[in-house]
Amino acid sequence: MDQSDVQRRAIRLLVFSASLRRDSINTRLADLAATCLEAHGGTVDRASMGDFDCPSYNFDVQSDEGFPPGAEELRRRLEACDGFVVCSPEYNASLPGTLKNAIDWVSRYEPQPFNERHGLLVSASPSMVGGNRGLWALRVPFEHLGARIYPDMFSLAQAHRAFDSEGRMADPKLQERFDTNIVNFMDLVEASKHYPCIKRAWVEYLGERPEPALDRVE
Ligand SMILES: Cc1cc2nc3c(=O)[nH]c(=O)nc-3n(C[C@H](O)[C@H](O)[C@H](O)COP(=O)(O)O)c2cc1C
Repeated sequence: MDQSDVQRRAIRLLVFSASLRRDSINTRLADLAATCLEAHGGTVDRASMGDFDCPSYNFDVQSDEGFPPGAEELRRRLEACDGFVVCSPEYNASLPGTLKNAIDWVSRYEPQPFNERHGLLVSASPSMVGGNRGLWALRVPFEHLGARIYPDMFSLAQAHRAFDSEGRMADPKLQERFDTNIVNFMDLVEASKHYPCIKRAWVEYLGERPEPALDRVE
């Protein structure tokens, strides 16, 4: 632990893999992220996508029955955290439908819990680009919802052979790069929580004429 960790003020991060698969490489990466966050003074809420599984979004279901337990759980755990880390597989050059569906449900809460919450996106894939296209797609709904998505996104290429028997990355330089990405993100979350900036409102479409019947402003 270096000097900056000793002085770190409290931050709490939700960490989950967006894969439901038993032997998921993204879940392995989420485990590594959680280990790194805790080693550098963060408090981690480690979740799984199964905790947030939701039926296909349907406005009528929302109106008639309310929110499903998976959406309630994601909202509750987001609100208890200063930021979140999502380890997401890439499906067909985009994000998995399960994750988008959960985001859609949670986006209907007011206040909307992604707004102003910091997020770090990471991915793992057997491919040469590590699922990075999926993260660019995932960035869009999050940014739309006012989440502060960290500029650097870590995508672990050829992930099926990237881990050693202890679950760390076999290449120590790559592991170090991953850890640095996580710690830089933590520094931003810490600064933002303890030295708040001036953003006051989340507005769905900033350039639209204000109209109470249509506004989604918080
Ligand atoms: C429906 C589907 C679509 C996929 N599309 C992509 C893709 O576009 N790019 C990619 O790198 N891998 C793709 N894959 C392969 C996944 O990266 C691979 O299955 C990976 O192990 C999934 O992550 P997980 O192990 O965390 O479940 C796809 C897999 C599935 C099941």
